[in-house]
Formats: sequence, structure tokens, C-alpha cells
Amino acid sequence: MHPQRINDTIIMKKSRFYLLGIFATASISVCAQTTKRVFVYSPGEHAGLHVAQFTHNGWQELGQLCSSDYGTWGAEKRMYHPSVARAADGTWRLVFQVNDSSPLFAAAYSRNLVTWRPQDYPVMSTPQCLKPVVFANDNGTFDIYYQTKTGDKRWVSASGNFRQFSKDQKSLIDQAAWTRDTATIAGKLHEGNTFDITAQELSTITSHFQQLQADARLSSERMHDDAKNSLQPHQPVTATLHVSNSEKTISDKLIGIFFEDISYAADGGLYAELIQNRDFEYNAKDRREWNATTAWHSASPIDISTQHPLSSNNPHYAVIAADTLWNEGWDGIAVEAGHKYNFSMYVLADGQKQNFTIQLIGTDGTILASSKLKTQGTDWQQYTCVLSTKKSCTKAHLAIIPQKSVRVGLDMISLFPQETFMNRPNGLRRDLAQVIADLKPKFVRFPGGCMSHGQGLDNIYHWNHTVGPLQDRKPDFNIWGYHQTRGLGFFEYFQFCEDIGAEPLPVLAAGVPCQNSAANAQGIGGQQCGIPMDQMPAYIQELLDLIEWANGDPATSKWAKLRADAGHPAPFNLKYIGIGNEDIIGTVFEERYEMICKAIRQKYPEIKICGTVGPFHAPSADYVEGWDFTKRHPELQYMVDEHYYESTGWFMHHRNYYDGYDRTMPKVYLGEYAASTNVKRPNIETALAEALYLTDVERNGDVVEMTSYAPMLAKDKHHNWDPDMIYFSNTEVRPTPAYHVQRMFSVYGGDKYVSTDIQIAPELKHRVGVSLVRHSATGRRYLKLVNALPVELTIKANGLTIPADSKTEEFSGQPTDQTLEMKQGVAGPNALTLPPYTFRVIEL
Ligand code: AHR
Repeated sequence: MHPQRINDTIIMKKSRFYLLGIFATASISVCAQTTKRVFVYSPGEHAGLHVAQFTHNGWQELGQLCSSDYGTWGAEKRMYHPSVARAADGTWRLVFQVNDSSPLFAAAYSRNLVTWRPQDYPVMSTPQCLKPVVFANDNGTFDIYYQTKTGDKRWVSASGNFRQFSKDQKSLIDQAAWTRDTATIAGKLHEGNTFDITAQELSTITSHFQQLQADARLSSERMHDDAKNSLQPHQPVTATLHVSNSEKTISDKLIGIFFEDISYAADGGLYAELIQNRDFEYNAKDRREWNATTAWHSASPIDISTQHPLSSNNPHYAVIAADTLWNEGWDGIAVEAGHKYNFSMYVLADGQKQNFTIQLIGTDGTILASSKLKTQGTDWQQYTCVLSTKKSCTKAHLAIIPQKSVRVGLDMISLFPQETFMNRPNGLRRDLAQVIADLKPKFVRFPGGCMSHGQGLDNIYHWNHTVGPLQDRKPDFNIWGYHQTRGLGFFEYFQFCEDIGAEPLPVLAAGVPCQNSAANAQGIGGQQCGIPMDQMPAYIQELLDLIEWANGDPATSKWAKLRADAGHPAPFNLKYIGIGNEDIIGTVFEERYEMICKAIRQKYPEIKICGTVGPFHAPSADYVEGWDFTKRHPELQYMVDEHYYESTGWFMHHRNYYDGYDRTMPKVYLGEYAASTNVKRPNIETALAEALYLTDVERNGDVVEMTSYAPMLAKDKHHNWDPDMIYFSNTEVRPTPAYHVQRMFSVYGGDKYVSTDIQIAPELKHRVGVSLVRHSATGRRYLKLVNALPVELTIKANGLTIPADSKTEEFSGQPTDQTLEMKQGVAGPNALTLPPYTFRVIEL
């Protein structure tokens, strides 16, 4: 049925589709020979768009075609009243309602009903867009009608490519436009649209679902089921390894790290500040129950003022008189006997003297360290002292004890261990940073993850809010439900990279916030239409300024001078920049991303841009469109960032993932990945799955430029995400099996890949990994062997001799083991015999 507009009077054109609707409601006896009848519908608001096929037995469900990508997880991602139209060229258009409170609807495009272009959410002038319906016009455009809560009907015209949408207008369309076909599927009556498609088109759909099912079966394979799995061998297995003389060049930056302030990775984690809410800037945006006094205590209510702020970016400060003010730290303050701690605070006084005693106090009231501080002044001034601890305590608190009753303002109250990583002031926790440094990462990606693009437009991470004097940095809420002080800012990130010999890879928003953002004041969620176009030039300038700040000459550039003033006159030599983080690759994204890339390419052609292809692997919509865009614009970017968190079975059965990648196209940065089981903690099983996969990533190191496991850090009791590579508390750092895999691939990496071929029973091949690389600068070769079988594996090598004194490093265990013991030794005569569930590296 297609409504026609004649001078704003709408008449319904009875069409073939209208008749089809009636047929679908009644019983259909036989479909035409050459066409197949399908019905597209949604079985429920969380179920997305489905397709059913009409058969001799009535309508049979085939599967889900796509789902809503609008708004936050949990509360949103709903699809109401989907309406599908077919264009004259055979392509498809979908519109649906996302909720009953947003001034927009969802719109998507597909060539084959199977792969849908990422959804766009055109914004209308009305507060709601209910029950949108779409109709194809003969001229290639589309008409969309929707209703408002008051019953008004509106009309919108959409371009043929479904990327441009006109302003909405009042429409007098007949209510019949909303009459839909119905079909009974599994005993339930559904509304939807019926279409006749060719047998070939139907076969594309059914083979897609068959492939998904087959993939799901393979992906469900688990090592922890091996004992009861009759397909797994029970006797030792033998394989033959052929090593050829041929080598290819691979990336020398394959293993890096992903750093995001998630799960208290930065504040309360790697950033060594021991005082929580030092700036009194906590507020309900961070977490509903938080305010400026969170983590602070006193016998009487703590006064918070904004009258005479230390910095406009830090408006709140505490005003105290005679009562002691104490801070609980981050789950307590862990201090060690014989260590020194730098205390500092800004005091605002009106000229009167005030003396303070600053103490660290243990859980039993013991004074662990004490120092005196004399203050006097008429404006904000910083005072410092050193606290030397006599006793250790894992849960101390800090007390600021005034010596008389004088009202003073206090702000930026800080306590740092003197021993930070590389003894940097405003530095990093030494134990944690050292474990990271031991990975020898070739690059560090920061500051996220989702934290880079933020929860809504106002929370996009602006790098320039994170540099300069600490009190002038602009704190903000963290998308992961807490607070960012920005004490660990871009200067500190770059310095850490330099300290550990890693390339900095800052990743900043592509002019859009996280697609899972909640609605703004206008009720617009998700990407919130992106940074408005008239503000994009300023945003692009901000990104260009970062390059200037990192690499410019302080003599000529104000940004480079800021870097020099912070203590780093030499350039940081930034080579890479990431734009976007697993965004919806919709029209709003593509327009902004292209503008940003063009500006960077023009001003800094030497900078390598990393784009994004969405949050999932092939064949997800964002992946397909992201790569499509990349291939249409190969000149814009050097590589693109792929993300996938998958089961161990998925990793074991997709080891050829990169084999077919086009080597002439931009390279791949596998920026976030991790294997997991339902336990959601790294164990021997997940580690071996990752090790297997990485042997193939090395093999494809000519197209994969970089990889980073994610997330890296999680603080006990503050996990936003599992699994993670390193768990920690205030006193412990616990690298997981995932960490050891990353470390071994990094430390024993090379820049040449030597061709090998392993022959083993085909059904076992996905459980065995071999990779031989050469590090051309040192001449060393590293042979990596992974046995993820439940039995011993002996490899007979052709073309490779292993000297008995070759160094080895390895781990073995049971799939469910969450800890492991690393063993170092020499190869000996059994170098190529691997116990069950083993990862071994041999240095040749
Ligand atoms: O790694 C955790 C999160 O996973 C990242 O912030 C985001 O990019 C991805 O969804």
C-alpha cells in the first residue's frame, strides 16, 4: 500500500503490496514458482527485526535480521513498529520507533535484508515520532509518515540513499497507511510487511542464518569440556612441522597496551594520588550519591564554598575551623614503614596564621606519621610537608588537624608516595607501572575506550582539559560511573610512554559521543547528532593542537610551549592518532570523521591516522560499513581499529580471520579483544585461546600492525568489566594468564615471520599453534608453540634444529586455572614435546 499525496490530500493507492497484505492475513496456499514469500516483523521490543518464510506448513521463523542500536544498553535498544519498504532497485529501507519520548526515529538501509547499514536517527520537529512507516516512490525517494502523541500525522521525505531526511511537515494521510500485514508464526499473530523475493534472495538469507548457527556451534567449544568431549583425543598426539626458508616482514609493533580509566584504572589505580576527591569536585553526575564532601569526614558538617575558587575549573573547596578533616583514601590508604609521602594542600586564609598537624593514622588509631604545617597568607597558597611512616598499614587515613579555630579554605589536598614509577612527580604507582613496563609494550593506547568519546556530547574527552597545572585541569565524570580528576592527563600519558619506550597512541572522539549515551535535555540519546557542524572547526582545531603540543617547537608554538613549561622541551614525537572508538558508522559519524581526517592529513601528512570499524567483528553492520568507508577513502587513514570480545571457541575457530584481508588497504589495529568463558576471568583456557590466535596474528603481521588486549586494569571491588589483564588492590598487583601471554608475545616478538606449516589431524588443527619470528636487530629467532589439547603433543620438525641449550619459557595448567607458574629453562631433548595445555617459547 502506498499513500499518494495530492495537494495535501492523501488517497490510498491499492497496490500489489496492499493485496499481499490481505493474502498474508488469510491463508496462502501456494507461492509463485519463482518467488518466495517472506514476512518481516518484530516479535518484541527487545527482539529486533525478524524474517519468516511462508511454507506449506504456514509461516516459519528464519531468524533475526537486525536489532535496535539506539541509546543506552538496558533502558533503550528497543525497536517498536518496524516498517520495511523495497526500492525499485531491490534494496531495502527500514524505519522504526525507538521509544515514545524522543524526537527521532531509526532509519536503516540494506541491499539484501541480511546486512544493514548502521542506523541513522534523523531528528524531527515534534517531541515524539511514533509508528513511522516508509513507502518507496517511483523516483527513488521515500516517504516516511509518523504520528505524534496528540494524533497528528507528519510526513518526511528521504533521499534514495536514505542519508538525507527533509524537515517534517503536517500530513493528512489516511490512517490506512498504518494498516500492516499480519502473519501467525509459532501460534502467535504478528504485524509486519510481506514481500515476494527471489529464490536466490531467500537462499542468501537462509545461508546467512545457517552460517551463524554453524559459527555459534564452533564458538561454543570449550577446553573445560574436553574431559567429557568424545571428539577430543585421549592419547598423545604427533604433528609434523615444516619450516621453510621464506620470510616476510611483519609489524614490529604488534603488542601494545590499551589503557582506559575503567574499573578505577587511573584515579585510585595507576595514578599514585592517595587522597580521594582531593579537589572537592565529586558530584552527583559522577555517581548519584556523591557530592563535594565524599571521602572526607569531620566531627561537624563540612562547609563547601565556591566563593573564591582556586581555579574556575575547580570551583569547590572546603572551609574548616577547629575540627579535624580526614580523608579515607581509596578504600583506605596503604602505607609502608620507612617510606616517605609528599603532602600538599592549597590554603586560603585572610592573613591570620594557622598551624596544622598532618597525620597518617592506622585503623587502630596509631599515628603512623606526623608532620607540622604553618600557614599564613591572604590568598590561595600551596603548602607542603613530608610524612615519614614508622609503621605499615593497609587502610590508614589522613588527618588534617587545625591547631586553633581559624576559618580557612582548603583545596587540592594531595598525598603521593615519594617513590613513584621513575620517581616522577605527580607520578604513577610504582608496582603497577612496573608490571606494565615488564610487558615491553610497543605502544600505549589511551585514554580509552568509551571514556574517549564519553557519555553524551558534553562528556567527550578534551585532551586540552587535562594538561597544565593540576588545579586548572578540568575534572569530569567518568562514563564508567565515577570521577576523573585528570591528574593523570596527556602530559603524564606521554611521559609514561617515553619512560617505557612505547609509542603514544592517543584515541580521541570523532566528533560523536558513545553510541550508548543516554538522552540529552532534548531527549536525543546515542550519538546525540554529533558535535554540531558549526562547532566542528573548533573541535578539529583542538585535535590539530594536540599534534602541535606533542611535536611542535616551543619557540614558535604556544602549544609546544605548554609542553615545555610542563618539563618536556623536546618533542614527544607523536606518530599515530586514533580518531573514534567503536562508533556507529552512521552518517553523523562518517561526515565528521571525514572532515577530521582531511584536516589532519592536510596539516600533518606524516601523522598516521587510525580509524574505527565499530564494536564487533565481521559481519556486524559497523564492521561492514566501517571497512566499506575505509576502502572508499584509503588515503585518509593508515589503519583501522577493530574490537571483539569473544568466547574461547570463537578465537580457536577464527584463526584465519586476517588471511583474506586486502594487503593494499589500510592496516588493522586490533585495539580491543579478549577471550572469555562464562567465568569471566582470564584462565589457562582463555590464555591459550589468545595465544593460538596471536600465532596467526603474527602470521598476518603484514596486515595487522598493532594489537592490544582490553581492558588492562581492574581494581578489586570496582570492576566495570571482566575479564581484565591485571587485577590489583591498594597493596597487590595480580597479573593473570592473559598478561603472561601478552608479555611473551611482546618480549619474544620479531619483525620477520618465517613460514611454517604444521601437519596434524584436521580436527585438531585449531588447537595447535606455531609461529616462528626473527628479530632482525638482534638476529634472535623465537619459536612459539601452543598445545591447547588435553593430551601431550610431540612435534617432529623438518628444517629446524633446536640446540639443547636454547632458552625456554612456558606455562601449563588446567583450563580452569586462574593462576599459573611461569617456568624458565633450557630446551633439552624434549623441546618439541608439550604437555597438555601448554604455551612454550623457545629462543633460537
Ligand atoms: O574495554 C572496555 C570497553 O569495551 C571500552 O571502553 C569500549 O571501547 C569497549 O566497548
